[in-house]
This record gives sequence, structure tokens and C-alpha cells, in this order.
Amino acid sequence: MAWAAGVAAVGPTRVFGQDLDDCTRWAFLSDTHVASDPDNRYRGFYPYRNLQEVAGQIACHPPDGVVITGDLARMRGEVQAYENLKTLLTPITEQRPVYLGLGNHDTHDDFAQAFKAGSGDVRTVEDKHVVTAVAGPMRLIVLDSLIADRAAGLLGSSQRMWLSSYLAGSDDRPTILFFHHRPQIDLLDSKRLFDIIEPMAKVKAVVYGHSHKFNFAQYKGIHLINLPATGYNMSGSQPVGWVEADLTSRGGRFTLHAIGGSRKYDGCTERLTWRS
Ligand SMILES: [Fe+2]
Repeated sequence: MAWAAGVAAVGPTRVFGQDLDDCTRWAFLSDTHVASDPDNRYRGFYPYRNLQEVAGQIACHPPDGVVITGDLARMRGEVQAYENLKTLLTPITEQRPVYLGLGNHDTHDDFAQAFKAGSGDVRTVEDKHVVTAVAGPMRLIVLDSLIADRAAGLLGSSQRMWLSSYLAGSDDRPTILFFHHRPQIDLLDSKRLFDIIEPMAKVKAVVYGHSHKFNFAQYKGIHLINLPATGYNMSGSQPVGWVEADLTSRGGRFTLHAIGGSRKYDGCTERLTWRS
């Protein structure tokens, strides 16, 4: 199930561009933590206002699309929280697709109720919210690591099996995986995931959130990109904001846009080269 352009759109992979030499520009966000109450305040931040500001920035110069790697809702996903999220994202969704992943503060049922699936709904993986997109030279896959009532995450065997066969059947386009939990820390089946993707050279990076910390690392040549939170930080040394990603078949440039918290690295760009 994917949600795009202000409606719930479900089904096959969407294609944004065909030229493999193209650069595709995306906005990556995580941990928006929007509550049912727009005035909800936590750790000195107003997540609703933060996303309002970020959505305005993104909508001014819209990228090809947006991915949000979960913890969309503040404490626990409620329909009203998702309705607020939908409203906040409208300046973007009027222009570009937005792909939503789910985190441990989200709930499958309320999310599905707010972002109702359109006709042609195809459940890629039973009880999981999985989205795929092709964007110019890149393939993006948003996975679902949410386990109900648990802080830790799990992809689960059916999603891993689907991923394995989907990757095997896909072309060699550089591929980025997105999910909420941190590999090797909170994602309980990290080893099984890496057993699948490590031999598949087309998988270049995994992008996730959860920690509310902005960080780049590498594991067996696969880039591990931990997005900052949009809602609030857990430490004053961390930014609150979003990441602009310019992606090509050779690598990516990742630029931090900090709207709160530490602004030390605001505007700084990390350049990554994909493994071959
Ligand atoms: Fe979070």
C-alpha cells in the first residue's frame, strides 16, 4: 500500500523517470511524531509545528518524492493523528508522492483507516505496509518493521521472503531500503536481512530512524543512514529536521536541513559512493 498525491494509492511500482544517468532528488524524514492535539509539546518541541515548517520548505522546491521512515504518530497512532499528518503533508502531496513507513509508535489499523486504500489495492505482504518505487536511476523499497506493542522491530519471515524474491526479480538498478528500526540494534532480524542483501550488490544503502540521531555508517559496503527526527530530539547535540538526498546511479549527496535542536551541521552535505 502506498499513499501518494493526497490519496491512498495502492499497487504496482510507480516510475518517475527512465534515464539511468538522471539524478533524482528526494526528501527523507523520520519520526514526525504528530499527535492528535496540534499543540502537543514534548522535550520543548512542537512536532506539529515542526512538520508544518518542514513541509513548507519541501513544497517550495519540491523534490521527486518524500519518504518518512516511521513513528509518524506521537505516542500511539490514532486516526486523528494521521488525519493531522495528512493535512500537514498536503502542500507536498498536492505536487509529489509521499511514501510512509511505520514505526513502533504507529498502528496498522488506524493508519490504514486514515490513509484508506484506493481501488486496486494489492497486499504485497500480508499485514505489512510495503511500498516500492522507481525514481530515475534508483529503486526505493519502504519496508515495515513495526511489531504491535513492541519498541523493537521485526521484518518477519514473509516480508523477508517477499524482499528476497522481489530483489532477485528486479533489474540491477541501485536500490535503497527504508524501514524504521536500527539494524543490528533494534531490528531483531537484522542478520537475516543482511544475509539477503549483502550478496545483492544492487542494494546500496538502508535508511532508518528510531534513534532521533543523525548518523552515517557502513556495514559490508552497505551504507547505513540514520535520519534525524523531525518531531523532537533526545539530546541537545542532535538536529531536528530533514535530509535532502540527491541520488544517482553512482552515489548520493545527503544534505541536512535543521530547523531545531543542534544546527551545527545545518546545510552540510555527506557524499556517499555506492558499492559495486
Ligand atoms: Fe521516534
